[in-house]
Order: sequence, then C-alpha cells, then structure tokens
Amino acid sequence: MNKKTIYLKDYLPPAWLIPETELRVTLAPEDTQVEAILHCKRNPHSKEPNAAIVLNGERLQLERLALNGRDLAAREYGYAEGLLSIPVQADECTIASTVRINPAANLELDGLYRSAGNYCTQCEAEGFRKITFFPDRPDVMSVFTTTVIGEKTACPVLLANGNLREQGELAGGLHFATWHDPFPKPCYLFALVAGNLVALEDSFTTKSGRRVALAIYVEPRNAGKCGHAMAALKTAMRWDEERFGREYDLDNFKILAVDDFNMGAMENKGLNVFNSKYVLALPETATDTDFDSIGGVIAHEYFHNWTGNRVTCRDWFQLSLKEGLTVFRDQEFSSDIASRPVKRIRDVNLIRSIQFREDAGPMAHPVRPASFVEINNFYTATVYDKGAELIRMMHTLLGEAGFRRGMDLYFERHDGQAVTCDDFVAALADANHHDFTQFKRWYSQAGTPELFVTSRYDAAGGRLLLRLRQSCPATPDMAEKKPFVIPLALGLLARDGRELSFSHAGRKNPAFLTITQKEQDFVLDEVAEEPVLSLLRNFSAPVKLHFDQSDEELSLRLGYDRDPWGRWDAGQHLALKALMQGIEQFRQGHQNITLPDTLKHGMAALLDDERADAAFRAVSLVLPTENWIGQQMAPLDPEAVFWVRQRLRALLGQELRPAFLRHYEALGKAAHRPYVYTTAEAGRRALRNMCLDYLLCCAPEAPADADMLALGERQYREADNMTDGLAALSAVVNADRERGDALLQDFLAKWQTDPLVMDKWLSLQAACPLPGTLARVRALLRHPVFDLKNPNKVRALVASFCALNQRQFHARDGAGYEFLKAMVAKIDRFNPQIATRMAAPFTQWRRYDADRQQGMRAQLEELLQAEDISDDLKELLEKSLW
Ligand code: PHE
Ligand code: ZN
Repeated sequence: MNKKTIYLKDYLPPAWLIPETELRVTLAPEDTQVEAILHCKRNPHSKEPNAAIVLNGERLQLERLALNGRDLAAREYGYAEGLLSIPVQADECTIASTVRINPAANLELDGLYRSAGNYCTQCEAEGFRKITFFPDRPDVMSVFTTTVIGEKTACPVLLANGNLREQGELAGGLHFATWHDPFPKPCYLFALVAGNLVALEDSFTTKSGRRVALAIYVEPRNAGKCGHAMAALKTAMRWDEERFGREYDLDNFKILAVDDFNMGAMENKGLNVFNSKYVLALPETATDTDFDSIGGVIAHEYFHNWTGNRVTCRDWFQLSLKEGLTVFRDQEFSSDIASRPVKRIRDVNLIRSIQFREDAGPMAHPVRPASFVEINNFYTATVYDKGAELIRMMHTLLGEAGFRRGMDLYFERHDGQAVTCDDFVAALADANHHDFTQFKRWYSQAGTPELFVTSRYDAAGGRLLLRLRQSCPATPDMAEKKPFVIPLALGLLARDGRELSFSHAGRKNPAFLTITQKEQDFVLDEVAEEPVLSLLRNFSAPVKLHFDQSDEELSLRLGYDRDPWGRWDAGQHLALKALMQGIEQFRQGHQNITLPDTLKHGMAALLDDERADAAFRAVSLVLPTENWIGQQMAPLDPEAVFWVRQRLRALLGQELRPAFLRHYEALGKAAHRPYVYTTAEAGRRALRNMCLDYLLCCAPEAPADADMLALGERQYREADNMTDGLAALSAVVNADRERGDALLQDFLAKWQTDPLVMDKWLSLQAACPLPGTLARVRALLRHPVFDLKNPNKVRALVASFCALNQRQFHARDGAGYEFLKAMVAKIDRFNPQIATRMAAPFTQWRRYDADRQQGMRAQLEELLQAEDISDDLKELLEKSLW
C-alpha cells in the first residue's frame, strides 16, 4: 500500500457505531474462517448524516457479506485500498461477513498469527483489520462475544477476552469456547488465543471482596517459570487499589507468554499477551534485571486495564494518553516496591540517552503528534517516556493529593469513553483549580528544551539571584517554540555539605520554582552563606540543564547532595567533564589520557559510602553512556567516545583496584545462599558485579590482567544464578577473545535449548567491542539458535551490534552500515515493524563526520530505492533523508 499522511486536525467522529460484535473463529493453520456479526447504529454525533458504513480490512479473503441477513452482491458494496464501503439508508443495521485468513503465513506478527504452533493475536494499533472487516479505530467501542473453535488435540485451550460463557464438543474432533466481555472496548484490545498450553493458576481477592481467577498460560516446556510473574501481578493489583483506588473488574485475568512478539507485551482486555522475555524467570535462567523488568511490564499491562482500557484513546494521536500515563504508573509502582532513587536514575538515563536523541533527530515528534504516516512508528521513547515525564511534572505541580484528586475525576468523568490528552489534563486542572493552558505546550511542541542558569550570591543581603533562560531547538515540524512551564526543583548546600534553608516569595524552602517565561529572574532570600546549588532535583523536568559548576562543587554534591538523583547527576557531570577533556586530547592525537583526581576520589568515596545502599552505588559508579557523551559532540566521533570512556574505566579499575577487590570479596561473603531475588540482594549483586566489571576492564588494545581474568572465570564457574554467571561471562568476553570464547562454548552447551538464555548469548557477543565482532555476528546469523523470523533473536543480534556496539557499527570501512542495510532490507519483506525499528541508528546520520554521513546516507538511499518497501520503513527513510 501507499499510505498517506494523516493529521490530527482532520479528526472526525465515526459515522457509525458498533455497540455489539459477535465473532466466530474456526481455526486452521493456513485457512482460518472468521465470521463476524456487527450490530451497527448511526452515531448521533456524526457530522456526516447519510454516510455509508466503512470497514477496514486487509489481507482478508471475503466469502460472504450480508446486510440485515441478505447476501450482498459485489455491486452493492465497494472495496478499495483496505476500505470496504456499504451504503445503508436506515439508522440501524446488522452486517455479517465471512472471511478467510492464513495465520501460518503471518510473519509480521500483527493480526492472527502462530507462535510455536499456538495461535495468538496482536491488534494494536491496526491489526484487527487483518482478522475481520471492522471500523478499526479506537473510538468505536463494542461489546464482543467471541466463539473460538479448534481441534481438541492441537488446541486444548481456547481463550478470548472476558468471561467464559459456554464450552463444548463439536463434530469432527473439534471443540469450542464462547467468551463474553461485558466492557465495551475498541477492537485494538481484542485478543484470541488457542493451543496446547498449560497454566499457572492463582487467585486474587479485590478490596471489595470479589474473587478473580488468575492464570498465566505458557507452552508445556515453560511450566514452572511463571512464579515471579504471578507474584508481581498480585502485588500490582493490590498496589493499584491502594495508590489509585482502582479495582479489577472481570472474573478472570489471563496472561499468555509467546516467544514471537514484536514488542514487550500487550494489554488486551482481561487477556494480556506477553513476549515470553517478560514472563519467564528462574534464578538459573534470568538475571536480576530480568526479574525487575518482568515486574515492571506485568504491572504496566495490568495498569492499562484502567488507563487505556476502561478509559481509552479517541484516536492514535492520543497514544500518550494511555502510554505516558501508564509508564508513569509503572514507574511509581517500581519505585514503591524497590528503590525509588535507582528507578529514577535508570529512567533518566533512558530519557537522556534515547529520548533526547530522538527529539533532536529527523523523527522528532511531540508527545501528541500532529501527523503520521504509519502509527507503528510512533511507539517511541517520546510518546512513552517523555509522555511519562509530562505526567510526572503535573504530579509535581499538583502534589500527590492533588494529582490523585485529578485522577479520580478523570475516571469518574470518562469511564467507558475514548478521550484525548486534553480531556486528561482538564480533569487534573478542574479537580485542582489549576491552569494548565501553558503547560500543554509540552504536548504539542517537540524538541528538548534547554535551560541556561546563572547565579550570583549577594552576601550583604543574604540573597541568591538566579537568572534563567529557556530555549528549544527547531524540529522538522516546527521552527519556533513558545516557552514551556518548567518546574525546577532545587536545594542549596553549604560548603560542608549541609542542606541550607532559604525562602522564596515568602515561602520557606519551596521544593521547586515554576519557570514560565523565556527569561526569568528569581530571588532566593535568607540564604545564610554562599551555597552550592543542586538544580533540577530528581530530574524535575525533561530538559537539558546548562549550569557551570566546578569540579569541587560537583564533588561536594556527589558526596552530600540530599537528593540521591542529584548525587548521581553530579557524578555524571563530573565524569562527563573528564570524558570531554579526554576526547579533546584523543582527537589531537594523545593517547595517554589520565584520570582526574576529583573523579577518582569521588568514585572511591562513593564506593565506600556505606550510608548509601548498594544498588545506588552500583548505578552511580557507571560512567555516562556512550549515547549521552555522543550528544555533547559535534561531529560525533564514536571511536573517540568509546576509546576515552573505556580508557577512563580501565584507569579507575587499576587505580582503585584494592578498593574494588575489597568490596568484591566482602560482598561475596555477604551473599545469601541460595540465590534469592530481593531488592537488597539484587543491589548487593549489582555492586559486586560492578566491581568485577571495573577489575576486568582493560584499556582499548591492552591485554587483560591474568589474575583478574581468573577472577572472572572463577565467578562464572561458581555462580548459582544467571545474574552472577552472565556478569562474569560478559566481563571476560569483553576483556579477552580467547578466554571469552571458551566460556561462550560452555554457556552454549549448557543453555542451547533455552531461547531466552540464547538471546543473552547472542547479544553479549554482538555487543563485544573487540575487533572481529562483525564477522562473528555474521557467522551467528547462520547459527542454529538464530532465527531471523523471531524478533527477540533479531534484537539480540542486530540491535545489540548496531545500537549497543557503536564502536564496531561505525567502523571506518562502513561494513557495519552495509550489514544493517542488508538486514533491514531482508526483514522488511516479512516484518516491517521490526525492520523499521532496526533501522533507527541510521536516522542519526547527520550527527557524524562527513565520511560516516556519506556511508549511512548511501545505505538509506539504497533502501529507499528498493521495490516494495513497507510504509513503515518508507516513512522513516523519507523523514531521515529530508
Ligand atoms: N500497548 C503495548 C504496551 O504499551 C505496546 C504494544 C504496542 C504492543 C503495539 C504491541 C503492539 O504495553
Ligand atoms: Zn503500554
């Protein structure tokens, strides 16, 4: 197809509504029959009084179409470009259709498809139109009754949304199950599952005393790996009751885990479908990070039941209405059950590394985009994570109680409706008599605002004068930006590290200042001595802060800032200064870059700081990401970034070796045996593995230290869990090819039948910065554990190389670019969504030097010239080249 750009401003309410839908799906691998009965009613709010009924449908083989029980001849309806149009005079009617589809041939994993011989569906955003003819838009909400029919032997389990109404046997070895979902929903939340599955079952009693049956369905070989996911689900259900007053609403809640899935998971009403990566976990096969993200994703999808399902989106421009809000909710959940500061640091790292870069590139778009070609391209860090930052800022501005009042009003007003981001903000505003008019620019203006701050202390008056200026770079959609509302959280430190009090506009120690203008001065009074400023505490707004602080001031904050995020940020800033200096020297041909004492002592003090918990120390010891460093450079030199970062890490590892060794040993002795996944234990392991990583880190081109290699090998052999095993494996692989290869062989022999563990095995090799990695990656494409059709495998190999291994991907000879182009072209033929995601590194081409620009650009152009590329890929290529 050749999709056109669609615009938010063109939105029209649907001409027809479908209050009820009955489906009857008779499954067969290559020839599934879908019979649909749509009970249609004209929309009283439609602006087109005589409109025909228009239904979306793609890749459907139409067998029968009937209006009010009478079969229609071909001349009585029209079909073009995925739209079936049926002229109707009356205000109500029934449309019946029978179509045939081929799930076995569906490799784009959108619509009804097969994974490991089982059937499942993916309908968000526009997959339902590949299952049957229907108005595939989120503002058409219908009550679905679904009968699933399948072979008893191949498909003992038959599932759909809602409550089970009836089941029984049919002739010819078939059986059926009829499911009824009483809650009207858009078709993107429809789901159907069938196959040979086993379930982990449990139950949950809601706060009002209703019993909900819980079940997680997996292939039989994965039975026994769902305990953590189930526990997380129950914790999330309780948390949503306590923190947001939201109770679950159906008699059952079902989850299916499949190996073949384009995204992380999907919140289909009462029947979530998950990438198995976010469900299956045993201590031997999953890392602490996996356990963590399983909890987060399970919670995220569960929380969608209210933010997304009960209240849904009017149109796809409003995607952040449900995604930004639900990410905010899952962030809060993770913060409440584990470490709030560590969660915040991880999220900010993601914003800075990924979202800021997106916001500065050719695909930049506002949190509520004004136009798009392919909606699948807008499931982005901007819509999800910047969207969550917008919610967080409103939470900051209103406070927890005010925010909760606003949420309550939002649900009260809009339960059962399909609404907009404006409706959401209006509920928060109305419940608090707060004016968010200017704030809403965050929804419509793309780009990362920059905040420039200078300060002057007036000793005589005991006053601190702050001068602020904000600006926002032009983005492809908009040149001039109006000023944003920026909550700037702040604190003042005395030179000995104490928190200093101050007042502003008559208020004592306000947590934040609200910036609304392009240029704005603030006066802080009652400031007893010249302070060190801690600005943007807890990352109170998604902006780039420009504020000069000396190494001494940053060290003080790294040691004493009362805001843990501020401590981390000060450390990052300190390290960034050292890195940028080193990069400057490296580019002038110097290779003997040295480690600044302030950084060394700051890191040493942090490592020894027993007041701070281990998880916090572990994340804070990580130097800024290559992505974040790269954003400070123009043109970006990925070799310099890698080289200097690696060199500084190696120097830290050498110069602080006694301290790292001491902590490594002590943390090892303190281990709980056997492995348990608790916040404290995961933190302990994280810090210990961080020590190991530094100990094994060697400067680029330098050989690894034999004793340290032996230490890593010993940890690998002795580990009783994947966290410690994989950390050791990774450290050895990155340090030494030969010794790494030996461990990789051993790991393969042990785990080759576990696909999720093999993803780790592939990813680790692809991310290895040592020379020769591309050849290795190419060889792995032919390895029996690799499968091009499986998105997890593609991500593990292709994305780990092209997005995580910037040094090798951007190698001067352009071989990395050639590789990515070939992969994208190949994958686009059967799975456009994945192909387009893989192509993302190319969008950044303008940031690099002339040679690399030329190299990437040539690949983009070649891809664009190929015949029959998908709309998804085409949109990305055209926007990138523009
Ligand atoms: N809506 C899903 C989520 O955020 C993500 C998703 C989008 C999954 C599109 C599949 C397809 O949780
Ligand atoms: Zn979501």
